[in-house]
Order: sequence, then structure tokens, then C-alpha cells
Amino acid sequence: MLSLVVLISGGGSNLRALLEQTEHADFPARVVAVGADRDAGGLSYAEAHSVPSFTVPFSSYPGREEWGAALLEHIQQWQPDLVVLSGLMRLLPASVVGALSPRMLNTHPAYLPEFPGAHAVRDALASGVAETGASVIVVDEGVDSGPVLAQRRVPILPGDTEASLHSRIKAVERALLADVIRDIAEGTTRLEEHITA
Ligand code: GAR
Repeated sequence: MLSLVVLISGGGSNLRALLEQTEHADFPARVVAVGADRDAGGLSYAEAHSVPSFTVPFSSYPGREEWGAALLEHIQQWQPDLVVLSGLMRLLPASVVGALSPRMLNTHPAYLPEFPGAHAVRDALASGVAETGASVIVVDEGVDSGPVLAQRRVPILPGDTEASLHSRIKAVERALLADVIRDIAEGTTRLEEHITA
């Protein structure tokens, strides 16, 4: 059974789906704690599922290094097998990536390396492409640049808004993440082959 710490910044709909997934007896992972870099709305899902949470506000620290050190301390208290960035909208310092790699995953709402960064859905819509996608990657020191573990295309439909497209992408992200976690637990995906730092 894999233990997971999930980090979020926002509404946490993907966290919610993961919490529901991990409550199935045959799913080989459990969320042991949820962390956030701000007062994120999604923390309420941790509470609703009786999962402990912690907040390490970026604004309470003089810089990224100090914030990262505090975040890492919180994460390590739980000794997780895996850390999942599920909408954490903040770049982690190299010291944190180095300490957790390759056992840290990120979900991203685009078919990487297309549309990295914080506005992937908006950027895909603005570019006029016919399809975008969703990816699950191993976190490295760059912005959404780590090895891709799973990805799938999502078509852009006539009349799509950022919200409608993002919600279809999130459904794919949730499925990909669950598959990747299962594959890691079962040993068919070996993270040691994806060391990034
Ligand atoms: C998800 O689409 C996730 O991939 C994205 O934020 C969303 C979080 O949604 N992350 C990034 O864009 C990171 N670059 P949620 O808060 O509803 O789960």
C-alpha cells in the first residue's frame, strides 16, 4: 500500500477524486496528508475525508528556499512513498525536488511538452490548436519539464471556454493519475528509472 502526501493550491477537485479513489479497498494507495501553500479551498476535502492537512503559506517566508524547507519538513513528517502535486501552483526549490525525486508526481492540464506553466488551458485555447491533453510527469527542477509517465489527448470542441475545456481535461487527469499510482504500486512503472535530480 503506497502512502501519499498531496499538495494543492486551489479548489482541489482532482484531490477530491483521488481521495474517493483511494477509499476503494482494492486501490493500492492511501492519502496520509494534504498540504497547501495558501488557504486553499480544497483543504475542505481533506477534512471531509478525515485526512490531516497542513498549510505552509508562501507569504509567511522571506523566500522560496525558506518556504521550501518548511514545506519539506511537513511532508517528511508523514514519510510518504509518493508526493503528488495536484494543482500546486508554485515552483518548488531545487532542494525540495532533490530531496523527493523521483518520488514526486505532477498532473498538468496539457499534452506536455506542449503548453507548460500556470495557464496551460488558456494558452491551448488561444493558440487555436484542435486538441490539447493531460499529462502526469515526474517532477524535476524545471517548469513541467520532467519525464512523462502518462498522457492522453483531449479534443478542443467548438464553443469551448477555458472552464469547459479544463473540466474535460481534469476528468482525464484523474484517470491518468489513478492509473499511474496503480502502476507504481504494482511495479509496472519504476520511478527509479526516472531520476531527475
Ligand atoms: C489541474 O488541472 C492541475 O493539473 C492544474 O491545476 C488544476 C487543479 O485543479 N495544475 C497546473 O496547472 C500545474 N501547472 P483542481 O484544484 O480543481 O484540482
